[in-house]
Amino acid sequence: MGIGIAPAKTILFGEHAVVYGEPGIAIPLWEITTTASFQPFRDSDRKRDFHIHSPMIGLDADFSDIPVNLPLKKLIIRLMNLLHLTEPPAKILQIESTIPIASGLGSGAACSVAVIRAFFDEYHSNFDDAEISSIAFEIEKSYHGSPSGLDNTTISFGKPVYFQKGKGFEILKLDSKLNLIVADTGIQSVTSAVVQDVRNHYEQNQAFIRAIGIIAEKARPAVEKGDVQEIGQLMNENHDYLKKINVSCYELDLAVETARKHGAIGAKLTGAGRGGNFIALAEKPSDMIEIKKSLVHIGAKIIL
Ligand code: PMV
Repeated sequence: MGIGIAPAKTILFGEHAVVYGEPGIAIPLWEITTTASFQPFRDSDRKRDFHIHSPMIGLDADFSDIPVNLPLKKLIIRLMNLLHLTEPPAKILQIESTIPIASGLGSGAACSVAVIRAFFDEYHSNFDDAEISSIAFEIEKSYHGSPSGLDNTTISFGKPVYFQKGKGFEILKLDSKLNLIVADTGIQSVTSAVVQDVRNHYEQNQAFIRAIGIIAEKARPAVEKGDVQEIGQLMNENHDYLKKINVSCYELDLAVETARKHGAIGAKLTGAGRGGNFIALAEKPSDMIEIKKSLVHIGAKIIL
């Protein structure tokens, strides 16, 4: 049975600015994952055509009935070409996920990477992380026109990365585990729309985008060393600039302020913004209880 697993990701620094060549820092979240696996049809199943069952995107259909403009269909056609398959496998592709969708945690890229890995496992093909990442990147482009590549890189390699579009990336070694809370406003937001809006106001945003890049540059050694005070301070500054480029919203601002008031050293939105998730950093694990309690109180859902 071919199987593929991919983690979620959270962007610690640099979302949006990373689209314009500024550096970004992201880490995988292995506590929440997407799993794709090939299952045989049961004897009781009437159908024998390649079938996809993905409750996360509300898909339960034969492959032939799925419209060609759906990114998942494009991905599978690409994989069949790569693997020289003339026919799709007569199996069920089951896709299960604990990653909230359209919420800034990379659910789309995680779905792609899990499916790619499941196909390569099913057909005993050896593809490395870089090849998996580049296939996932092609599909990211069909989700939103100008992705930076940060999502697919972090999720394919499954490690913390310092990433710069057009220049490549480096895997970061973190000295210590961050006491990071990830929580959801419950508001779904469409990455492509937010990215496009930032682009439409590029002239006004340009200086802020550079400022976000400088924050990510400064944050890198702090993240590697686990300098919580410096990371927290820079997270707060990063959130302020994200507000300035107009990708925050009332709920995200309330959430980061609440987290800070209840002991977080730093807090910011993560991902595209205008809803979705945010992150809060605590100095010690014991501080996390109070912060989480305050976030639940304002209606946020704790993811991690
Ligand atoms: O919301 P997500 O998980 O798709 O993250 C988007 C991150 C952006 O920087 C806004 C876009 C990108 O392509 O890097």
